[in-house]
Amino acid sequence: MNNLRYYINKALNEHFALGAINFNNMESLQGIKNACKNLSSPAIISVSEGALSYMGDDFVMALSSACKKEYPYLFLHLDHGKSFEVCKKAVDLGFDSVMIDGSALPFEENIKLTKQVCDYAHQKDVLVEGELGQIKGIEDNVSSDFEHFTNPQSAKEFVEKTGVDTLAIAIGTSHGAYKYKGEQTLRFDILEKIESILPNFPLVLHGASTVDEYLVNQINQFGGNLTHAIGIPKALLQKAVKEHNIIKINTDTDLRLAMTAQVRKVLEEKPEEFDPRKYLGPGREEITKVVEDKILNIFFSKDKI
Ligand code: G3H
Ligand code: 13P
Ligand code: ZN
Repeated sequence: MNNLRYYINKALNEHFALGAINFNNMESLQGIKNACKNLSSPAIISVSEGALSYMGDDFVMALSSACKKEYPYLFLHLDHGKSFEVCKKAVDLGFDSVMIDGSALPFEENIKLTKQVCDYAHQKDVLVEGELGQIKGIEDNVSSDFEHFTNPQSAKEFVEKTGVDTLAIAIGTSHGAYKYKGEQTLRFDILEKIESILPNFPLVLHGASTVDEYLVNQINQFGGNLTHAIGIPKALLQKAVKEHNIIKINTDTDLRLAMTAQVRKVLEEKPEEFDPRKYLGPGREEITKVVEDKILNIFFSKDKI
C-alpha cells in the first residue's frame, strides 16, 4: 500500500511521524528525497503558497513527479493554503493533500471554509489538514503576530463539523528561526486534553525546526547575522512523537539554514567560485544530512516504507 492515508494510520499506530518538509527549489527537494531514500523513510514534501508561486505550478508538478519516479514514498502537500481557490488548484493539479489554514478567521468561518475544502478534496480522494489555534512567527507568506493555543473542546467540534483528516494545533511551536524569548517549552497539558477529547486522531505540529546551533554558528562565521536564533528542543519533539498523536512534523527553517550555511561557507572560502553547482551542491548535501538526522532522531521514520 502506498498512499498518504496508509502512512498516517501507520504513524499513528506505530508512534512515528511523517516529516513534512518544505522545498523551494530543485536542490532542496533532491536533498530531502536523498535522505528519505537512504533511510527508507516515507515523508511529505510541502509547498507553501509562496513556494508555489516562486517555482510555478508546472515546475512543482514536474519536480515532484521526477522525485516520486525515483522514490515513490513522498507525498506532495500544499502548506498553509489560505483560500478555497488555492486548495482547489492544488487538488486539481494532483497534490496528495492540502492544508487549508483558516486559523486567523473567527471559529465559525474557519469551519465553513475548511468544510468547503474538505467537500471538494475528498471527492478526489485528497486529504485535508485544518488548523485551529494560531501559531506565531513570520515567514514570507505565512505570518501571525499572535499565539492562541488550541482550545481542546473547540478542536473536537472543528473536526466533527469539517471532516478534516488531520489537525494542526498550537501548543507553543512557532514559525521561523526565533521561536522563544524565555523558557523553551511546549504545552503538553493542552496536547493531552486534545487527545483525551479526540482519541486516536492524527495531529500536526507546525513550526517544529530545531534551529541547530552549529548551522547558525556557521552562517554567522561566514558573514551572516542571525542573533538569538533558537528552535524547539529535540527532546520535546521526540516526546510529542513517541508519547502522543503527533504524526506530522513541519520543518522548513532548518533546511533554509542548512542551504545558507553551505552557500556562505563555499563563497567565503572560495571567492573565485561562480559555478552555482559548486555551492548549491554542498547545500543539497547539507540538507540531506539535516533530514537524515531528523528521520533518525525526531520522526523515527527509518524503515517505515
Ligand atoms: O510555515 C511556513 C513555511 O515555512 C513557508 O514559508 O511562506 O516563506 O514559503 P514561506
Ligand atoms: P519552521 O519554520 O519551524 O521550519 O516551520 C515550518 C512550518 O511549519 C511549515 O508549515
Ligand atoms: Zn506551518
